[in-house]
Amino acid sequence: MTAFRAYRIHRAEDGSVRAGVESLTLGDLNPGEVVVRARYSGVNYKDALAGTGRGRILRRFPLVGGIDVAGRVESSTDTAFAPGDRVLITGCGLSETRDGGYADYVRVPADCVVPLPEGIDEYEAMAIGTAGFSAALAVMRLQDNHQHPDMGPILVTGATGGVGGFAVDLLAGLGYEVHALTGKPEAAAYLQALGAAQVLDRRELTLGDRPLESAQWGGAVDAVGGEILAWLTRSVRPYGNIAAVGLAAGTELQTTVLPFILRGVSLLGIHSVDCAPALRRAVWARLADDLKPRHLARMVAGTVGLEGLDEVFEQVLAGRIRGRMVVDLAS
Ligand SMILES: NC(=O)c1ccc[n+]([C@@H]2O[C@H](COP(=O)([O-])OP(=O)(O)OC[C@H]3O[C@@H](n4cnc5c(N)ncnc54)[C@H](OP(=O)(O)O)[C@@H]3O)[C@@H](O)[C@H]2O)c1
Repeated sequence: MTAFRAYRIHRAEDGSVRAGVESLTLGDLNPGEVVVRARYSGVNYKDALAGTGRGRILRRFPLVGGIDVAGRVESSTDTAFAPGDRVLITGCGLSETRDGGYADYVRVPADCVVPLPEGIDEYEAMAIGTAGFSAALAVMRLQDNHQHPDMGPILVTGATGGVGGFAVDLLAGLGYEVHALTGKPEAAAYLQALGAAQVLDRRELTLGDRPLESAQWGGAVDAVGGEILAWLTRSVRPYGNIAAVGLAAGTELQTTVLPFILRGVSLLGIHSVDCAPALRRAVWARLADDLKPRHLARMVAGTVGLEGLDEVFEQVLAGRIRGRMVVDLAS
């Protein structure tokens, strides 16, 4: 096979990170049973942290960036896959411990590969990406832990982001009353179009400092962490669930055991990367079926080629992008 393009991330001796498009051959990629001719990838918050070096995402260097990819199998030494099969990969160590999806070709272990379910194509899969997968995982965990629409409104934080937007869309589609918390109140119409019944301005929140605040939320999907997650633990109603997905506002969590032992509140951890293959396939099957996002086109902010990634990463980290950027590897 001839050389192909890849957005690769390096670390210099002084610890600084530099990344850009370069020419690789298959021999440069990590080993794996399946080679995929990549068609689309996506931009997640984590991709922006990895590509700019502003978060410690890569555990070895150099690696091709991109935690998600979809395309067609080029070759496989595992009989579960044949050339031409349409597949997707999200998480699974891509751009953390192994070469990722920002390349024309990707090589991965067969365990990481999910056959593209009926009902979605490669573009839709990457418009959904890890953000939508994580939101779906959060919704499924809420349901598994008996979250019911009658328990009251679900607050989604970081609502204009990828995870947040999908959480609003999916929960509203299932009949939950969704309230969206955002730092961009000007995006209220967008959030309402996704299904939010109410939109709250993050800057107008009064977090309080009591161990238990007035219990107003039936449950929550939290993409931001920090003080907001702590406040959620104090303000969710009895037996409500909080799915903790993200850390856009911080990694600290200052709370007490009182919400857990006096209100039966559950804090559910969402970890998309090392999800077991069977669960991974089950989540994607639902994303192609009853959890298929109803407003996917509205949530796509735009497409970008490999050369435009650096600029998009800056916008993502500055919180300026509403929704999802799809990476078009044919552009
Ligand atoms: N656990 C997992 O497996 C998993 C999977 C995917 C993502 N994540 C994490 O989930 C988070 C969201 O990911 P994403 O891809 O949706 O990112 P994203 O598209 O960049 O969205 C993040 C959103 O968080 C809000 N935000 C940004 N900075 C903030 C701050 N300082 N304080 C409060 N809110 C802030 C913004 O929404 P508003 O302006 O609307 O508030 C922003 O759009 C990230 O932390 C990511 O690392 C975790």
